[in-house]
Amino acid sequence: MKEVKIGFIGCGGNANGHMNRLAEIEGARVVAVCDVQAERAQSAAEKHNTDAYTAHQELLERDDLDAVYLSLPVFAHGEPELDVIARDLPFFVEKPVAINMDIALMIEEELMTTGLITCVGYQLRYLGSTQITRQILKDRTINMAVGKYWCSTGHGDPNAWLRQMNKSGGQLVEQATHTIDMMRYMCGEVETVYAMQANRFLKETDCPDANSVTLQFASGAVGSLTATWAYAGDWSNANVLDLLYEDEILNWNPSRVSVQEDGEWVDKTEPGPTIDEVFVNAVRSGDASPILSPYSDAVKTLEISLAANLSAQEKRLVEISSL
Ligand SMILES: NC(=O)c1ccc[n+]([C@@H]2O[C@H](COP(=O)([O-])OP(=O)(O)OC[C@H]3O[C@@H](n4cnc5c(N)ncnc54)[C@H](O)[C@@H]3O)[C@@H](O)[C@H]2O)c1
Repeated sequence: MKEVKIGFIGCGGNANGHMNRLAEIEGARVVAVCDVQAERAQSAAEKHNTDAYTAHQELLERDDLDAVYLSLPVFAHGEPELDVIARDLPFFVEKPVAINMDIALMIEEELMTTGLITCVGYQLRYLGSTQITRQILKDRTINMAVGKYWCSTGHGDPNAWLRQMNKSGGQLVEQATHTIDMMRYMCGEVETVYAMQANRFLKETDCPDANSVTLQFASGAVGSLTATWAYAGDWSNANVLDLLYEDEILNWNPSRVSVQEDGEWVDKTEPGPTIDEVFVNAVRSGDASPILSPYSDAVKTLEISLAANLSAQEKRLVEISSL
């Protein structure tokens, strides 16, 4: 089996999770890691027995890379991707793909002529619960989607990039992007967005701690999403979705989809591949078709979160095509 040699740009919490999963995949090997914080690069390099760099340009000078992972704070996207593309390397990049549409569209345009394999970290698309839901909804009319992302992530260091609006885009861009992506994946494209936001409790940050978003899908279906990261309780309402299709409802969360059969709620799930397995196999085979979240698709999910932030700021309906 041809070995896939991988370099990492960014060695934070999320990157370490990917490195650990890649270590379990036969034929995948992390050969170089890079972080602007030298101790993070060093620590990942020691754990995975690789070389460490503090500048992505130096990592990209290596001639043994088959692919690159980028796991960066939201504000740091742009130059690293362009340099990876210039090196003609397939890449995995974490969601959300950028802090604004200008950067995302510039990278998308640069990619267009290359045919490079890309994969964005919307791993929920590959889950059994998601694929079963897609099967149930196939050829059915969806009337309404209601999503929630209620969690405690907003608590913590207010100076961390995550809790600064100009560095992360806030909860809708950085975190509830997963629920927005699920709504798109299950219900189709969104045409119009209206949102209201408030910051009622976590006043030490400039990010909203309450988000209420209304969506109009191109199909004619409607949707709503509420998101808060001020809630200090459990995560049972984080990243969940209720769907009304014709006269039936289902409830999706990452671990299962619940449907009613003969008046009883029945939970369904099945194993799915990890997103890392899918990406590594695609790079090895050159066949991108199993990738469910390529760069150009993920740009559309980003657009919806940014439209929601803009709508709340300007107190108006935002047409997705206008962004
Ligand atoms: N798919 C998921 O479920 C999931 C889960 C968690 C995080 N994420 C995403 O992963 C990304 C990283 O999140 P995290 O929690 O690991 O953040 P983090 O802050 O722990 O890690 C980011 C790392 O990138 C480094 N960095 C910044 N600029 C750099 C540059 N130009 N070159 C090299 N390194 C650079 C930072 O020093 C830091 O170590 C974010 O986009 C986040 O949204 C995705």
